[in-house]
Amino acid sequence: MKADILLGLQWGDEGKGKIVDVLAPDYDIVARFQGGPNAGHTLEFDGRKHVLRSIPSGIFAGNGVSITNIIGNGVVLDPVLFLEEAQALEAEGIDLKGILKISKKAHLILPTHRRLDAANERAKGASKIGTTGKGIGPTYTDKISRRGVRVGDIICDDFSVRYRAIRDAHFEMLEAAGMPAAGTEEFVKAEEKWFEAVEYLRSFDLVDSEHFVNKSLDTGHSILCEGAQGTMLDVDFGSYPFVTSSNTIAAGACTGLGLAPGRIGKVYGIFKAYCTRVGSGPFPTELFDQTGTTIRAIGHEYGAVTGRERRCGWLDLVALRYAVMLNGATHLIMMKSDVLDDFDEIKVCTSYRMPDGTVTRDFPFTIGENAEGSGLAEPIYKSFPGWKQKLSDIRKFDALPQEFKDYVAFIESEVQVPVAIVSVGPDRTETIIRSL
Ligand code: GDP
Ligand code: IMO
Ligand code: MG
Repeated sequence: MKADILLGLQWGDEGKGKIVDVLAPDYDIVARFQGGPNAGHTLEFDGRKHVLRSIPSGIFAGNGVSITNIIGNGVVLDPVLFLEEAQALEAEGIDLKGILKISKKAHLILPTHRRLDAANERAKGASKIGTTGKGIGPTYTDKISRRGVRVGDIICDDFSVRYRAIRDAHFEMLEAAGMPAAGTEEFVKAEEKWFEAVEYLRSFDLVDSEHFVNKSLDTGHSILCEGAQGTMLDVDFGSYPFVTSSNTIAAGACTGLGLAPGRIGKVYGIFKAYCTRVGSGPFPTELFDQTGTTIRAIGHEYGAVTGRERRCGWLDLVALRYAVMLNGATHLIMMKSDVLDDFDEIKVCTSYRMPDGTVTRDFPFTIGENAEGSGLAEPIYKSFPGWKQKLSDIRKFDALPQEFKDYVAFIESEVQVPVAIVSVGPDRTETIIRSL
């Protein structure tokens, strides 16, 4: 058996949660491999909507057969946010403890990490990254600095000693940043809440997930690896430094779960029929006019975690080709096609004109030097007529309007990977599976 991967090809929020939920019944295991509660994965079915942050999107897909969900070693976990999310699901009758396993090697987000995230952002001033404020960067920084605290540590006798050592180092950093936390009433309360949440975390199945996933494949069980964020937010290949702090690309599934490259099967790359981005950083196809506002309104483009307005723009094929290359995507999934139903004209960026006048189809070293986007790559567009038809009731690819099929065919010809699934609405059922 091989493990398949589903990940975002753009700047996140492509609709990963929805499609993992759609595909999950075909798998025995769904496993998150990186990121943390910066993610907000939305699932809709039976008239209800769920937003998942740290818990994999396979938890609803049992249909009587239980699918195992794993939080992998590449994930960073905030016990407090995990408790909130998990207890809300348990209150709905989900037997979370029965279907969720958590890697002992996943790193913990400490109360000081969130404060350090805020301090780092404040220090950056106008060039801030616009993080989700969940402590993601500082937690991964401590992981790489080899002083992080891991889920497996919470069952060790000296856990509180380890915790205090790193917390005290953070206190000094916060003091130096002019945001002291040591001894404040607010921090003492936050720390108390954190330890209560750690206690709750202890009641879960904490495992050596690398052994579990590999043995599961050996014994014929199938795995879907669920990415968070998107390729253009990858710490190595995204629009650095306006990125997240993990490897969001397919290689991240190998390190984030302990899967050797040869164990990877299909790679589902998911993208919207247009582009969005939350937070700062260059975004060549961003629309500042009424068209951008209309896309935001029709697509409800507001962050699932922070509620921030998502910046909207046309589909960027330079970035998409790059993402497909980095991930070795074998199947494409096109989301939110219905959002463009009423447009007379739809544009796609096929290449960039760089500030020195050269034209490139290959994603360059930088697409903009600063948060304001000066030095931004200028998109060169191809224009398509809109299909001017409601897509959300269509369930067969052949029944889609010709203009829409032409749009898809052009993307396929540019990217050289077939579109296997087309999504025409947020609900589970609003999905057209063409070929898998
Ligand atoms: P994720 O982080 O990649 O899981 O994506 P998010 O959940 O943050 O954002 C995707 C948003 O688009 C959610 O509000 C979904 O309910 C919604 N959505 C997903 N697919 C479609 C679709 O095909 N059409 C429309 N209109 N909305 C969709
Ligand atoms: P999902 O999984 C969209 C963005 C933030 C910010 C940058 C760094 O729902 O697609 P961080 O808090 O990670 O240090 O922020 O990354 N970002 C996301 N944007 N979707 C996400 O997750 C994101 N997670 C982080 O807005 O620009
Ligand atoms: Mg999201």
